[in-house]
Amino acid sequence: MYNKFETLCVHGDVHRQPDANRAISYPIYQTASFSHIKLGHNQSGFDYSRESNPTRSYLEETLASLEGAADALAFSSGMAAISVCFEAFKPGDHIICTDDLYGGAVRLFKLISEKNGYEIEYVDTGDEERIKEKIRPETRAIYVETPSNPMLHVTDIRRTAEIAHENNALLIVDNTFLSPYFQNPLALGADIVVHSGSKFLAGHNDTICGFLCTADEERAKNYRLLAKTTGAALAPFDSWLVLRGIKTLALRQRKQEENAGRLVCWLKEREEVEEVFYLGLPEHKGYELNKKQARGFGSMISFKVKNEEIALRLLKNVRLITFAESLGGVESLLTYPKVQTHPDVPENVRQKLGIDEKLLRLSVGIEDAEDLINDLRQAFEK
Ligand SMILES: Cc1ncc(COP(=O)(O)O)c(C=O)c1O
Repeated sequence: MYNKFETLCVHGDVHRQPDANRAISYPIYQTASFSHIKLGHNQSGFDYSRESNPTRSYLEETLASLEGAADALAFSSGMAAISVCFEAFKPGDHIICTDDLYGGAVRLFKLISEKNGYEIEYVDTGDEERIKEKIRPETRAIYVETPSNPMLHVTDIRRTAEIAHENNALLIVDNTFLSPYFQNPLALGADIVVHSGSKFLAGHNDTICGFLCTADEERAKNYRLLAKTTGAALAPFDSWLVLRGIKTLALRQRKQEENAGRLVCWLKEREEVEEVFYLGLPEHKGYELNKKQARGFGSMISFKVKNEEIALRLLKNVRLITFAESLGGVESLLTYPKVQTHPDVPENVRQKLGIDEKLLRLSVGIEDAEDLINDLRQAFEK
């Protein structure tokens, strides 16, 4: 009955039994282990916190309800979530990935997945013909970021899910950039959603976490076994931090999007700026498609300045906006993808995608938009 997004963010599942002491803020079960009443019987289904913990379970249930998932697992990082997702494949499996992908995922696929005998191929997943050309009998999954990091390319989730399913493969979507507030890939046909929860979900640049959400309970059981075995579960205190962050997810995302719109208009007028990439710009290649599958544009902006000197000047001179990796939190962060987030992407691929010395990525926070504009102005003009 009380199932609207904002309500779920604040209360999780309202039909859940209250905490034994009726605490409003869900308690942090800071324990490694749980006592057994007798052999084979534990009181509430909890044994050992690597496997499950009440604070983490509460968070997982909350995220499952926000993503419309059968189950969601919380990990100690987004990379840990993606790693477990990929542990389920077998040697010889072929996986097609978006070419514009977070650099850490590219590094994982290169260092670990290839060693495990998977074949990973990169393609512009915004073009369904390119995907179809790459499909083979051994293709087990299509892995996409939409919008992608950092170029904000958009992939058609519905159509890509159809192509995957016609070929007996899964569609995995990294939903970090829009979060469930703006986009629910499972409702559009995707099988699995991964998140860097360190970003919009936690929202305060104060913890690292990841999620693996699935529409299928059997698959979820296998992921739980793999997660318990590999052991990168989210700790109770961090689970609580993320739960607290999620309570204001909707408020933050609305304010961040509003700020991003103002900054985009301002950046477009600056003579130092060559091009602005933002999902809310009608001239953005993915504008119409994103409008069909998402409920907003988010607050990630990438932009190219006219030369490297201007890019370095901005990074050096911003004061309110912080020159730092990461995104999605209440503080605005400015990142230099070529060096910070995408150094493991081969140079020729970076050049092809446009991840060069002129590209900056701005994650817009919840500060006053005028203050953010003034900060960028003084950084450009210093
Ligand atoms: C789109 C995307 N996916 C996954 C990750 C990895 O997440 P984490 O840093 O939480 O391990 C990141 C990190 O920046 C990201 O931007």
